[in-house]
Amino acid sequence: MPLPTRVKLVEVGPRDGLQNEKTPVPTAVKVELVHRLQAAGLREIEITSFVSPKWVPQMADNVDVMAGITRLPGVRYSVLTPNLQGFEAALKSGPDEIVVFASASEAFSQKNINCSIAQSIERFAPVVDAARAAGIYVRGAMSCTVGCPYEGEIAPERVSYLAGLMRGIGVQHVGVADTIGVGTPLKVQRAMEAALKHYTLDEVSGHFHDTYGQALANTLICLQMGVWQFDASVAGLGGCPYAKGATGNVASEDVVYLLHGMGIETGIDLDKLIDAGQFISDFLGRPTNSRAGKALFNKRPA
Ligand code: HMG
Ligand code: MG
Repeated sequence: MPLPTRVKLVEVGPRDGLQNEKTPVPTAVKVELVHRLQAAGLREIEITSFVSPKWVPQMADNVDVMAGITRLPGVRYSVLTPNLQGFEAALKSGPDEIVVFASASEAFSQKNINCSIAQSIERFAPVVDAARAAGIYVRGAMSCTVGCPYEGEIAPERVSYLAGLMRGIGVQHVGVADTIGVGTPLKVQRAMEAALKHYTLDEVSGHFHDTYGQALANTLICLQMGVWQFDASVAGLGGCPYAKGATGNVASEDVVYLLHGMGIETGIDLDKLIDAGQFISDFLGRPTNSRAGKALFNKRPA
């Protein structure tokens, strides 16, 4: 399989990146982050989630963040919706895309969304129907496709089973997520192959957390399979409140450095992306988690 010549990055920093931050991040900071990301050339940005504020307080300002952003033509803005209640609230904010999120692991499904995998699919079905009737694209995130903090290793058959359920209710795209970052390339390849039993190469993406430093290797093996869509998070922010021990997503800056270094186009201005990463890291009061971001920033003239 030839490597893709162009890759689409979905920036998940404002959502996956910030959802796990303990101190509330002001709405204005979230909005400024989105503005900087789109100025850097990101064309797909996951903005927030319409989940229960009791479960994820950091996303409680979802309506205000969506209202606060100045939208650029050509940029697509997505939000997470766990149920019809979340979808109906999200609809008023005019997202271009919604994300329903299920787990390949039964235990993680219970911890994260308080229901079984089968119940989650039942809940998503009317959400998918309503979104598609409204002309909104539906992406599905599949969590714990390689490993689960509660169940350990996850077999590819479980991923294939979940992808089939997603396909069955009309989800248009699935993301294969290594939620806790335990995956290594061959395991990730098997999880991706399992998703590809139900979706085409144009309908899948990789979502890799970098807990064990494997995310770029996992990205590379997917590129070699022809996968051309990936989620990443500026400054390597991230983590899921219900996946203990999981650290951030792969840093967008590191993925862009990898891709540009391989001659693969992204449309992203790496310098401006580094500025966006610096902005949010400064706000959070800690250094960036992006290796490339840090190295290139340190090389800048004082
Ligand atoms: P539940 O408690 O079972 O819900 O939570 P319920 O239907 O029984 O309702 C209980 C209360 O929640 C009610 O309020 C509802 O109104 C309210 P009360 O009467 O007690 O005042 N409620 C809501 N409020 C706002 N928005 C909603 C909503 N739904 C119910 N949409 C629920 C079920 C799914 C809501 C809950 O478990 C939840 O919000 N979970 C979210 C967990 C989450 O956001 N996790 C992180 C995102 S997933 C992730 O990060 C993984 C990913 O990055 C990929 C990867 O890396 O794997 C995507
Ligand atoms: Mg995630």
